[in-house]
Amino acid sequence: MKIAVVGTGYVGLVTGTCLAETGNQVICVDINEKKVKMMQDGKLPIYEPGLELLFERNIQQKRLHFTSNLAEAIAEAKIIFMALPTPPGGDGSADLSYVLGAAKDIAKLITEYKVVVTKSTVPVGTADKVTAVMKAHTNIDFAVVSNPEFLREGVAVEDFMKPDRVVVGTLDERARKLMAELYSPYVRQGNPVIFMDERSSELTKYAANSFLATKISFMNEIANLCELVGADVDMVRRGIGSDERIGKRFLFSGIGYGGSCFPKDVQALAKSAEENKYDFRILNSVMEVNEVQKRVLVEKVKKYFKGDLKGKKFAIWGLAFKPETDDIREAPALYIIDDLVAAGAIVTAFDPEAMNNVKGVVGDKISFAENQYDALKDADALLIVTEWSVFRTPDFEQMEENLKSKVIFDGRNLYDLEKMIDLGYYYNSIGRKL
Ligand code: UGA
Repeated sequence: MKIAVVGTGYVGLVTGTCLAETGNQVICVDINEKKVKMMQDGKLPIYEPGLELLFERNIQQKRLHFTSNLAEAIAEAKIIFMALPTPPGGDGSADLSYVLGAAKDIAKLITEYKVVVTKSTVPVGTADKVTAVMKAHTNIDFAVVSNPEFLREGVAVEDFMKPDRVVVGTLDERARKLMAELYSPYVRQGNPVIFMDERSSELTKYAANSFLATKISFMNEIANLCELVGADVDMVRRGIGSDERIGKRFLFSGIGYGGSCFPKDVQALAKSAEENKYDFRILNSVMEVNEVQKRVLVEKVKKYFKGDLKGKKFAIWGLAFKPETDDIREAPALYIIDDLVAAGAIVTAFDPEAMNNVKGVVGDKISFAENQYDALKDADALLIVTEWSVFRTPDFEQMEENLKSKVIFDGRNLYDLEKMIDLGYYYNSIGRKL
């Protein structure tokens, strides 16, 4: 099938590349000519495990193309995916100007029936708005379909190629058939393509992310309570997770959720509830808990050093909002760095992928180490912020040689408590005993 993908951000690139991988002809279009040139030269502008191989292969096999010309991109495409940003506007609701702008441009160019798919996370009612904008600029028949993405950064290729489910919101029969055909290779193991109306599909995306964020905030509250009552959150997690109704996944307490999705989507859903005169009380608590949790690690540090961090040296392991990505949007690390620096501390950080991005934001407020052990030199304590695999089984001897004091604040519960006691560390983690 011939496909166009409008917008080559993270979602657009993964979508375009993975659609080409099953034999479709895909043209990705972006207004950023420099980026288009880079991709035409075979260079991937983002880091995502497994994507590069597919990207290079499909370019080489001439199934994946790039252009900055929208007319060229959509001329032959049966399905046009819009994977455009929907940043939070001033009031927390999603800003639809990119999506509606592209819809208008597409409408002016089409000469035959097209399926226009919104991949971006958009508030309920957006498909209707896109339809209205397009109708105002064309007499040609088209369908607007909601098809939210559920990709996780770091495993996005796997999530796209083998999704738990695909949600398609459309009541247009022709569009439904085309979407079913397009996704059939990805659901061969029997996972469903769930068809529904556009509004339910749009809400499904927000409900999924908000529910997951709720799980995290709930577990973070359980962790905080564990510390007060002398329980261990990892035990509680295992105890409840083996109940199939609860499930084992996504129950890890830590230092709050970050990234480009959860914070934005929870806020947008609360906002859209408010616009509909509904007070979504749980979501307000989820956000409030998360704000506090992002600062829990520094609170622990301050308590340990009796409020005086001036001139103290801290090592930070991990800056990305989660492992296997260089993404630092809403990363807890940024809050932690701000708090430490504001308290007069000296910070050295190491992250396998995200250091350049953090440099761009914090400049020379902190320094960056070549490797995880160099970051520890003369440090009064280590703060573990992202659970990269390389931090899970470190060389403890080398750590001891570099650290000034054997003090670790672990925001991700990477190590066994007894082991840390045996090794003689002061080890303060989340929701576990000291
Ligand atoms: C999330 C969803 O998981 C995807 O399904 C969705 O498609 C995506 O948002 C999106 O809307 O585009 P992502 O933001 O890549 O994906 O990352 P997650 O793996 O979900 O992690 C989000 C945050 O929750 C991270 O800060 C992570 O550290 C935190 N988290 C996750 C926890 O604190 N505990 C957990 O048990 C799981």
